[in-house]
Amino acid sequence: MRSTLILGTLAFAFAVGLGAGTARADDAEAKPCSHKTFKTKQVEAACKSGGQKAAKSLMKKVVKKAKAAGEKINCKTCHTSLKTFEYKPEAVEALKKWL
Ligand code: HEC
Repeated sequence: MRSTLILGTLAFAFAVGLGAGTARADDAEAKPCSHKTFKTKQVEAACKSGGQKAAKSLMKKVVKKAKAAGEKINCKTCHTSLKTFEYKPEAVEALKKWL
């Protein structure tokens, strides 16, 4: 009886530990976008609802679409930095084509 109690406690502690770990990872991923104003509704919506993580997955879709159409394109085609996600002046028009 006693040993089941200990096992149960351990399992509980483990589950809580895992839960806390997951929450931390989510926080890191829910990092807000670095820009505060946006040129496109789509990116603004992604940033507002899911932060940089959501913006990135939108961008990945854009790249996929453009590649499927035969464009040679990647994140660096439009962004001068993949840390701040600063973009080139012509990137906005280029992006609108694929949104
Ligand atoms: C066709 C050009 C283009 C490509 C390719 C592109 N981006 Fe972007 N990206 C933009 C533009 C323009 C914005 C800003 C949009 C706005 O203001 O509405 C942006 C915004 C972002 C943002 C939000 C920036 C912030 O404020 O934090 C992230 C994150 C991002 N891009 C990541 C990526 C990643 C990762 C890739 C590669 C998978 C990529 N982008 C490819 C043009 C591009």
